[in-house]
Amino acid sequence: MSVRRLAEESVQPESFAFNADNAAWAEKRIALYPEGRQQSAVIPLLMRAQDQEGWVSRAAIERIADMLGMARIRVLEVATFYTQFQLQPVGTRAHVQVCGTTPCMLRGAEDLRAVCQRKINEHAHETNADGTLSWEEVECMGACVNAPMVAIGRDTYEDLTPERLEEIIDAFAAGEGDSVPTGPQNGRQFSMASTGATTLTDLPARAATKLADAPKAKKSRPAKEEAPKAEATPAEAEVKPAKAADLPEGQLFARPEGAPDDLKLISGVGPVLEKKLNDFGVTRFDQIAAFKKADITALDDGLSFKGRIERDEWVKQAKALAKGVDEYVRVFGKEPK
Ligand code: FES
Repeated sequence: MSVRRLAEESVQPESFAFNADNAAWAEKRIALYPEGRQQSAVIPLLMRAQDQEGWVSRAAIERIADMLGMARIRVLEVATFYTQFQLQPVGTRAHVQVCGTTPCMLRGAEDLRAVCQRKINEHAHETNADGTLSWEEVECMGACVNAPMVAIGRDTYEDLTPERLEEIIDAFAAGEGDSVPTGPQNGRQFSMASTGATTLTDLPARAATKLADAPKAKKSRPAKEEAPKAEATPAEAEVKPAKAADLPEGQLFARPEGAPDDLKLISGVGPVLEKKLNDFGVTRFDQIAAFKKADITALDDGLSFKGRIERDEWVKQAKALAKGVDEYVRVFGKEPK
């Protein structure tokens, strides 16, 4: 286990306070728990503090302890135990957590660490020259079957090669991290056998077609494994991108009436992705909420990250957000980010 300590006093802020939005959010979050159980909110509050400031300072730990009526040492214990909490300032665009536990180590984690040392900083927990990137080594993150892997923010990037990690780091450095597909980076579908499907290979044609829908490697990525090919059934063949013929070049959907919504409230959508969606003609929650399979297919193709829209439940999120934040909290049990 890596040693986890608070940052040096020289970088610790004098004080910490949630901004108005986050303070209101924290109040609601604490109220979710029964009387006397408010300390159950400690992890969500620490995460919100990190989302606000980029890292968790001593002042934030002390403030949260006071808010929850906990001994400060108890909150310190939580913050120093989980590697999801950054205890010192990290890169503003990406903090790369390289798994260094045995399965990842056997599959090349040392080479990934060397990439971070070369491209970011020789030393873990220190940023690159312009302060946009940092890295550290952490223990198993539970994706061993797709070793080696790294985590950046809330996403994991798996089945990595040093070359692919370099590309990913370059994308984040350029502020284009949202465009990088998450999960396996070699064309493998989730954690299926790396040599392709070995069971259920005699599935009916429709199910086999779904297998063939496995995320495809981007052009620049190594494509070692491919899902089995299958003929599309007539039903599948009818699913076509929903592009209207008279749309401007590059636009996939007719832009709806009304002011655009803040699509970044959808978990999985950041500023870069929101701009792409707007460019495609997607601007509103109620528009996404009404998406059919063909629309999702068109958007998947346009964004080049097959499966993520369904995996992150954009349509379900948009349906809730179209009704308001309270509905989102009711459905998902948390505030939209
Ligand atoms: S050993 Fe790396 S994710 Fe488990």
